[in-house]
Amino acid sequence: MIDLTQAWKVVNRVLKPERYEHTVRVVETAVQLAEQYNADTHKAQVASILHDYAKYRDREEMRRWIESDKRLPKDLLTYHHELWHGPVGALLAEKELGVRDSDILSAIACHTTGKKHMKRLDKIVFLADYIEPGRKFPGVEEVRETAAQDLDKACMQASRNTIQFLLSKSQTVYPDTFHTYNELIQRVKKNEMEGKK
Ligand SMILES: [Fe+2]
Ligand SMILES: [Fe+2]
Repeated sequence: MIDLTQAWKVVNRVLKPERYEHTVRVVETAVQLAEQYNADTHKAQVASILHDYAKYRDREEMRRWIESDKRLPKDLLTYHHELWHGPVGALLAEKELGVRDSDILSAIACHTTGKKHMKRLDKIVFLADYIEPGRKFPGVEEVRETAAQDLDKACMQASRNTIQFLLSKSQTVYPDTFHTYNELIQRVKKNEMEGKK
């Protein structure tokens, strides 16, 4: 499998400078989260270095991959193309870079939308992409503070903020983003109830 130096070289080649700088901050954030939540820091690094690998692929090329590869959900095509680079990036990381680790590929695939039953590495890359220090979304500071205490709650807040933002702009919301929010808000509430007992 690709090593860290090779992975950095690849993204340095395919990303614009500002996106490369974003990636550097996502990796730093993901490593901190992996240490804090006892996840595999090596996998967190590979997944976060490569998370935006397909960001600048031609839109028609991404459309063809989604149409032709049976692993990619076809409903993506009816949602904003901004959502395509995660699932297509995971596919291309496997095909072009030889990444075989299913945890890493999953974290790349769902980094923008989240999904049902996210694993720890999925949550770490999803959250690192949302809270990296260059992000200025409304509400991001609250999520940064929560990230220091509770990984599920921080991911819930990130998905909630994303949904609120999209609704305020009358944009569509990809179902996986709702699944992320619904699953995690239930877990957060259950934990809070149990904490009060
Ligand atoms: Fe991305
Ligand atoms: Fe990103």
